[in-house]
Amino acid sequence: MDLAVEMADLASRQPAEAAAPAGARVVRAILAGIGGYLPEKIVSNEELSRTVDTSDSWIRERTGIGQRHIAAPHETCAFMGTRAAQAALADAGATPGDVDAIILATATPDQAFPATAVRVQAALGCGGFAFDLSAACSGFVYALSVADAMIRTGQVRGVLVIGSEVYSRIMNWQDRGTCVLFGDGAGAVFLRAGSGDGTGADRGVLSTHIHSDGRLGDILYVDGAVGRSDRPGHLVMNGKEVFRHAVHRLSDAVDEALAANGLDRSAVDWLVPHQANMRIVDAIAKRLGLPVGHVVVTIDRHANTSAASIPLAMAEAHADGRLKPGQVLLLSALGGGLTWGSALIRL
Ligand code: ACO
Repeated sequence: MDLAVEMADLASRQPAEAAAPAGARVVRAILAGIGGYLPEKIVSNEELSRTVDTSDSWIRERTGIGQRHIAAPHETCAFMGTRAAQAALADAGATPGDVDAIILATATPDQAFPATAVRVQAALGCGGFAFDLSAACSGFVYALSVADAMIRTGQVRGVLVIGSEVYSRIMNWQDRGTCVLFGDGAGAVFLRAGSGDGTGADRGVLSTHIHSDGRLGDILYVDGAVGRSDRPGHLVMNGKEVFRHAVHRLSDAVDEALAANGLDRSAVDWLVPHQANMRIVDAIAKRLGLPVGHVVVTIDRHANTSAASIPLAMAEAHADGRLKPGQVLLLSALGGGLTWGSALIRL
């Protein structure tokens, strides 16, 4: 069998748990703790309109954004990721000794290397291993997917999955088409190995679905960094093109997640989407038939925090008591690459 055929064959197979005999126990990645960190400094649309030709009404109407948090010099990707991870561990009643791996999703690392994740590892005092993952705004869903696979195969038992971003450092603050859209922050979850029956009724990560299409790499990118220039670069986006791809790819990804678990749309308690644009979020919620009260929305206060937006939204909904044991969360994300994906988690 040639490699291409073998790969196609692999891709068409069902997940291991779906093939498990009835009654057999399978390993599940249980969501044990959630935490977030936001920089203290808040910049309103009104304040931005004093330095760039924009207005509060334009930003709100087109995106739903009202303000964003902006990191101070000491609030680096590692600093914020560490704070979010500490909050997630505390929420789980876990200690750094329970962490076997740290996977940190970011497009704005402290340095090219070492990975920001190992800076977090040192700050927390964890053993095991740590690495960064780059998938832009889909980074958290990608990192969750990797962590889930590592737990299910028995490689690790406790994993910190972190999304941490300082997009304020890669903004062209003269470009009103992008600088109004992003904010800084970090979110984290702690996953612990548990067990289930391999059905959609299990607790934990039920499935993850990740995709990319590199042919669309030039509709959303950073025009600098290692190998391209001697400066970090600025984010460049063809917003209309990204928007056009977002709705149908995200809709497909959420359908894919439900179908993989034999669940109906009515099984979803909370949609926790990447917070890029309220119009995209509304379109996905409408497609799912979910009332707006079942969508976790932070874009009005956080703006787009890229890989941090989903875990930050989860942290907020957890802290205010909206998330309850047994509920089903549907995560969906899309970002530079183009990358996109979804995940279903039962709390
Ligand atoms: N304030 C005022 N006017 C503005 C601003 C602003 N901040 N930005 C653009 N405009 C103007 C433009 O110059 C243009 O003016 P013109 O008609 O005189 O030329 C007009 O507003 C319309 O601009 P468009 O770019 O066509 O506006 P659009 O309706 O497409 O909205 C937006 C732009 C909000 C960016 C939208 O395209 C969008 O949300 N796209 C998706 C972004 C996204 O999902 N990103 C996710 C991934 S992010 C990641 O992975 C890093």
